Amino acid sequence: MILPGSCIGILGGGQLGRMLAQAAQTLGYRVQVFEPQAGCPAGAVAHREINAPYTDLAALREFARGCDVVTYEFENIPTEPLRQIAAENLTQLHPHWRVLEICQNRWREKTWLRDHGIPHARFCAVAADGDLAAAIREVGLPCVVKTADFGYDGKGQLKVKQEAEIAVAVRQFAGQRAVVERFIAFQSELSVVVARSADGDCRTFPIAENIHTNHILDFSIVPARVPPAVTRQAEELGRDIAAKLGVVGLIAVELFLTTGGELLVNELAPRPHNSGHFTLDACATSQFEQHVRAVCGLPLGEPAARSAAVMVNILGDAWFEVDGRTSRQPNWPSVLAHPSAKLHLYGKAEPRVGRKMGHFTVLADRVESALAHARELKSRL
Ligand SMILES: Nc1ncnc2c1ncn2[C@@H]1O[C@H](COP(=O)(O)OP(=O)(O)O)[C@@H](O)[C@H]1O
Ligand SMILES: [Mg+2]
Repeated sequence: MILPGSCIGILGGGQLGRMLAQAAQTLGYRVQVFEPQAGCPAGAVAHREINAPYTDLAALREFARGCDVVTYEFENIPTEPLRQIAAENLTQLHPHWRVLEICQNRWREKTWLRDHGIPHARFCAVAADGDLAAAIREVGLPCVVKTADFGYDGKGQLKVKQEAEIAVAVRQFAGQRAVVERFIAFQSELSVVVARSADGDCRTFPIAENIHTNHILDFSIVPARVPPAVTRQAEELGRDIAAKLGVVGLIAVELFLTTGGELLVNELAPRPHNSGHFTLDACATSQFEQHVRAVCGLPLGEPAARSAAVMVNILGDAWFEVDGRTSRQPNWPSVLAHPSAKLHLYGKAEPRVGRKMGHFTVLADRVESALAHARELKSRL
């Protein structure tokens, strides 16, 4: 057990790392952040910030020696230096670097789902010099082509609806490893965040229903407005995946609920997840605290929600007028004045379109009223 007072190292310095650091500090831990870019959101609240590339083994070694446990807030960290650090026993590393390796690449991730009998959208993997057109024809139209590496917020994705668009996809993905995936007609998108400790104890947070706009999470609605059987099945899928991956820490599972009522796994993330931010205000234990507990070997906390909640992401777009140019401060007073809204800003200096700057969560007894208030506040931002 890594007790309060010890030092937790976080690889990655974005908002997830920031909220993780804050949760760790609430439990009395010291926090060091390792992030290539100086002045990052997590570094601003950590005891120490180290800026070096993830491939700088000497810097990573020094970082690892100074931490009792190291974890991640970001998937796209090269695993080779992590494997090295784990092999040298410089610190504890959770989740295992192999979990990161699976989740950071769509090819490995989807293959893992298939090999472990977990329901997912039909797909076909294509090598960098492979035949993308053939893969698209095999999967069938409509489909989505996604780069195998470094995709987030819909970046590196192309929907292909008809034959004539195949050539566009072939040009766009030339020389890249990709995954072609059947386009799924879904009623809704759901996610479940699961915590697992080293002794196998598992806790699931309430299922969130997620609405994406331009491929970026816009609203997370809790509880998800789905039948109880779907909720149970999503929780079971989450636990099953956490156990099969042997994850120590959090694993977030993104799901499609198809129009036919079937649950399919879309993506895995072995870290706190944007759709779990509601837990900060709605649950006895937040996803960030739960991650700290899991990687430190502390007992897991109670994840149940105390009320319905709707989380709204605040993107850099909110700083710009409709003409896309003139910059202004969003209308914070209206969110702050609302009796059941909670504002979280990540301290990022420069608002950019599509950049996650913060979020707010509205709590209410009923999910419909939380959603109505959330939409209203968002429109007034
Ligand atoms: N196969 C698919 N069928 C339908 N919609 C999809 C599919 N793949 C992705 N999308 C939509 O795009 C969003 C982002 O895709 P995702 O694979 O989760 O990538 P990321 O979140 O890493 O950008 C999804 O949440 C979903 O709304
Ligand atoms: Mg996603």
